[in-house]
Amino acid sequence: MTVFHVSLIGRRDISGEIYRQVRQAILDGRLKNGDRLPATRELARSLAVSRSTVTAAYERLLGERLAASRIGAATLVSAKIDRSIPTVPRSASGRALRARPVWDSVATSVASASSAPFDFRNCFPDVALFPHVIWCRAVARALRSSSMTSAVYEPPAGTKPLRAAIAAHIGVSRNVRASPEDIMVTNGTQQALDVVARILLEPGDVVAVEDPGYTPPRHLFKSLGVRVVGVPVDGDGLVVDQLPPNARVVYVTPSHQFPLGVTMSLPRRRALLAWAKRNNAAIIEDDYDSEFRFGGRPLDPLQTLDSAGHVIYVGTFSKTMLPALRLGFLVLPPSLRVAAAKAKFVSDWHTSTLAQPALARFIDDGSFARHIRKMGNVYSQRHGIVTATIKRDFGAHLELIPSSSGLHVAALVRAASVEEVVSIVRRAARRGVVVRHLAQFAVGAKKRAGIIIGYGAIPTSKIAEGLRRLHRSFAD
Ligand SMILES: Cc1ncc(COP(=O)(O)O)c(C=O)c1O
Repeated sequence: MTVFHVSLIGRRDISGEIYRQVRQAILDGRLKNGDRLPATRELARSLAVSRSTVTAAYERLLGERLAASRIGAATLVSAKIDRSIPTVPRSASGRALRARPVWDSVATSVASASSAPFDFRNCFPDVALFPHVIWCRAVARALRSSSMTSAVYEPPAGTKPLRAAIAAHIGVSRNVRASPEDIMVTNGTQQALDVVARILLEPGDVVAVEDPGYTPPRHLFKSLGVRVVGVPVDGDGLVVDQLPPNARVVYVTPSHQFPLGVTMSLPRRRALLAWAKRNNAAIIEDDYDSEFRFGGRPLDPLQTLDSAGHVIYVGTFSKTMLPALRLGFLVLPPSLRVAAAKAKFVSDWHTSTLAQPALARFIDDGSFARHIRKMGNVYSQRHGIVTATIKRDFGAHLELIPSSSGLHVAALVRAASVEEVVSIVRRAARRGVVVRHLAQFAVGAKKRAGIIIGYGAIPTSKIAEGLRRLHRSFAD
């Protein structure tokens, strides 16, 4: 039975009103061929009108062959819709409301699936190697958990078992010192940043970001009326000396700068922490893919080095698990916990209670650590193949930026303009190879001629051929 909403305003020509609204729904496709219309008795009851009023409306529809019925059977939307019947004009054109102008400058997400045979995009893990069966089991168990079977809301910061599991995991894997109370579960990094922005920033405040840098947070900050200022990045990470003194928040990716891939050096980390303390600013440390390391000694996160409570650490399961799960977390200094919980509550109350127990179990039973170990080996091999091939075959074209973690490397294109790099990327796409060009991540006017090569999504066996085709795209 089709549930159909008829709005009756006033009490005049009720039958005509029912007829017009059902007819319009059929003509504009909301009611489809074969859909059952509500029984006259039922619709009459729900609208508190007499059955004959509804019957009269249905008879007009039958007369126009927009509906069909047999004695004793339901009334169905008819197959023989006469498209020449003029539609009833809409009461409004649908253009009355305008979004704030800032949304004109915000890009929509472009990280959808690609059918390209050689997908070197940076932001994806290898979904084919994800342990779907184990994850499905964890989700099935979560479906039976108490929060799914009782009508309750969970605390905004997340379920206790997941917060405890995350605290334990990052304590071991990243030396982040956090108790479960410091953790807030979020819908990915993007919502974590939204929560932080809501609690710390006023319209007109300044946020410093890395230039080049990750784009979605910039759009988020701008949409909140915050001023975004790009700060250059060199081989040691963000150039702290060039931070605007009035920045309230500095957003950085110190473990694996996005997109260049450099690691922020220890002196730079100390300088940034000292700067934040001097200026009473907050640092958002986005540690998005450092679970995958391929050599070199890991540096302590800013969060660990911070003794004054200026660092907010953000983690995500988009690289270690799947981006579509939309799971991430914040490690908050105690001074921000309460406000952050309120901000999460006003945003979406809390993250899904289906995902949270499933992930807690996945972490607690060792599946998560096993998956990271397995993927670490896979990505390490891919990183090795990509970097060795670039050094061996692309010497004339590319200068690799050293980096030893994560799911992508960046390389500067020698003696080429940004426009030439865009052409190379286009030519590669025609050969079935997708890479991103660096310039698209620039914040200010200075754009670097370079490319980013991700190895999360592409199977190991396809990397060599993909890079051969990329090489030919330089030579064309
Ligand atoms: C720098 C950076 N941070 C975070 C993320 C992940 O964001 P989310 O957790 O919202 O999926 C990405 C994904 O590509 C990224 O590049």
